[in-house]
Amino acid sequence: MTTLTEILKKSFLDKQDILTLLQTTGEDQLALFRKSREITDFQIGNKVYLRGLIEYSNVCAKDCLYCGIRKSNRKQARYVLSDEEVIACAQHALDNHYGSIVIQAGERSDAIFTSKITAILKEIKKMSNGTLGVTLSLGEQKLETYQEWFEAGAHRYLLRIESSNPKMFAKIHPHNELHSFERRLKALHDLRKAGFQLGTGVMIGLPFQTLDQMADDLLFLRNLKVDMVGMGPYIEHQDTPLYEASDFLLPRSERLDLAFKMIAILRLMMPEINIAAATALQAIDPMGREKAIKYGANIIMPNITPTVFRNQYKLYEDKPCTDESPVECTSCLEARISMIGSEIGYDEWGDSKYFLKQNQMKQPTASTL
Ligand code: 5AD
Ligand code: FES
Repeated sequence: MTTLTEILKKSFLDKQDILTLLQTTGEDQLALFRKSREITDFQIGNKVYLRGLIEYSNVCAKDCLYCGIRKSNRKQARYVLSDEEVIACAQHALDNHYGSIVIQAGERSDAIFTSKITAILKEIKKMSNGTLGVTLSLGEQKLETYQEWFEAGAHRYLLRIESSNPKMFAKIHPHNELHSFERRLKALHDLRKAGFQLGTGVMIGLPFQTLDQMADDLLFLRNLKVDMVGMGPYIEHQDTPLYEASDFLLPRSERLDLAFKMIAILRLMMPEINIAAATALQAIDPMGREKAIKYGANIIMPNITPTVFRNQYKLYEDKPCTDESPVECTSCLEARISMIGSEIGYDEWGDSKYFLKQNQMKQPTASTL
């Protein structure tokens, strides 16, 4: 049996190593976290990059069984930000030297929506002189839509696989054409084809989820050679069908702990990718995101959505920072990041080093021309 010290020295973890690491507790767990931070500092440095999160709309055509803004949740009032509101958010990100924004929304693929996004992207590129990096998180779309958005100026895209296990995926989604594992995989491949830096991720601590599946999730991320990962604990929402399975959940603190371990292990497996400290971590522990940074994450997405809408973009219960204004979020964040000894990469895009390296290699060099 390989000891923990031996596993932590390996440059390529196998499934058994991952399972051992997922089960660490106490001193062993702390050794994992220390190793992960050490690798992060060595490979990509101790800077944290910001992506101002704009929750553009909670209108959603889909019905994921876990999500509070699912189409069938009639209790949820719906909103779409006006163009002026989105541009004001982007301006806030610029003024505060965030470097990048993320535009996230419920999933829609109608032409009114997709062309509106294109127009907004062009406007943001114009008003920021191309200086603001743009990540999108707008779900599954046709390849042509991805291409159109890439050409309009977005260059990173987050689309979580949610669970890499097709049976688990089927447990947490309705069974129809709109919610298919294969379609999600195809969308991930299309995003790469369109030129995006590719981000995906999973939920951790879903009802009936096993450690074995979590280990497979990490292997899936490595096999797909993703550039960025966002993953966080599953948090129940009482107006969703999956709430009925709440009796089968681990306590929230254990889901949080598993999420930290998943982040730390992923950092050992993929030292140069960007890993986000998901907001859901903060819903369980007020210092959840900062702890994730200590254990290997390097991206934070401060919410810059106008405060009045934040409460309406509720994917899960206990969403943090729904009352603060964007200005309050900025100063709060600064204090939190310096508290853990990291530094914010102001005015930097902070692209995935993994992506940049792979793509440099694809560029023709002087000797191949
Ligand atoms: N708990 C945790 N994360 C959730 N998401 C959606 N609903 C929940 C929930 N109840 C995550 C999904 C989605 C991302 C935008 O938010 O992983 O891809
Ligand atoms: Fe909106 Fe899942 S409920 S994409």
